[in-house]
Amino acid sequence: VEIAVAAEDLELTGHEHYMRKEMLEQPDSAEAVIRGRLDERFGTARLDGLNLAPRELRGFRRVKILGCGSAYYVGQLGAQLLEELARVPADAEAASEFRYRNPVIEPDTLYVVVSQSGETADTAFAVQEVKRKGGQVVALVNVVGSTIAREVDGGIYLHAGPEIAVASTKALTNMAMAFAMLALLIGRVHDLSVADGKRIIDGLKAIPAQIREILGQEGEIAELAREIAGSQSAFYIGRVRGFPVAREGAQKLKEVSYIHAEAYQTSELKHAPLALIDESMPTVAIIPDDDLTDRNVAAAEQVLARKGPLVAITHPGVDLSHLGIRSIVVPRSEPELDPILLTIPTQLIAYHAALALGHDIDKPRNLAKSVTVE
Ligand code: AGP
Repeated sequence: VEIAVAAEDLELTGHEHYMRKEMLEQPDSAEAVIRGRLDERFGTARLDGLNLAPRELRGFRRVKILGCGSAYYVGQLGAQLLEELARVPADAEAASEFRYRNPVIEPDTLYVVVSQSGETADTAFAVQEVKRKGGQVVALVNVVGSTIAREVDGGIYLHAGPEIAVASTKALTNMAMAFAMLALLIGRVHDLSVADGKRIIDGLKAIPAQIREILGQEGEIAELAREIAGSQSAFYIGRVRGFPVAREGAQKLKEVSYIHAEAYQTSELKHAPLALIDESMPTVAIIPDDDLTDRNVAAAEQVLARKGPLVAITHPGVDLSHLGIRSIVVPRSEPELDPILLTIPTQLIAYHAALALGHDIDKPRNLAKSVTVE
């Protein structure tokens, strides 16, 4: 495979860190992943690289998603998208565990592995395990011609361009975009209507500009991040669609700032972690404008009642004025796609916390860009 990489893709081009460069590239990279893949006429996606005919796509009764680290968290989002748009049962599992539990491979399950590098050993082994047992496996991969890309039956390239920073940003966004297209395609061979398909297409097309809008708030987000940087530990809370956002947010903060961070379903807070809330424990709460807004606001009130500093990542129209907190307001997308945009501020929080602490942002201690050992 010929891999064309422009020299400037590999250079910092005036940025202090690759992580920041890659975050700022997201409006363009998110555009690249959908280019030529949205079929407006039929309200579906064109994903020829999957090598799956509509009849085959219809035959899958379940989807199992496998990835490691942040790719696994995006996989959880992907599973939700598949269930919501295609009404096909789907779940995500850490590829690093999958192989060791002698998994049952079902003939009518589509296995989807997800990896930026395409070289993660645990994910590659999961591919081999599925294939050895006769399962059908496709991949969402960024690096063209990588080990995983070569081993699978088909896939979707992420077209995010080279990602150098150990902390993944733009590739994760494109994974989520790719899952949305996969869910759209599988949805449309089942019962998703043309109108709903077009609604998702319009949502996807708007995302690059909406990401740009969020990146425009970097100054204010950096200020909040500097406050979090003074803490030993932080919570990230979200529910349903917001939970993978919280998991990824906590992961990114840990990875580059070395601040301990834990993600919880907001609904679980009262079942124990609330005991840890005090002035020294900040919480980042994902509060989208959806059916659960009131419950999310009630949980935020509980945190504040225990003097926990709180930052909300929320939508226009969600009234948090009575809480007296600072919020990061992101534009609304289609509800199913909202997590893609809600995640962007968490990247900026992690980056600016790490910057304030003076860490080696692009190469966090103890970590490698792709983990090629088990
Ligand atoms: C993400 O910021 C981390 N560096 C890490 O969790 C990463 O997502 C994981 O190691 C998987 O890598 P891959 O996508 O290259 O397979």
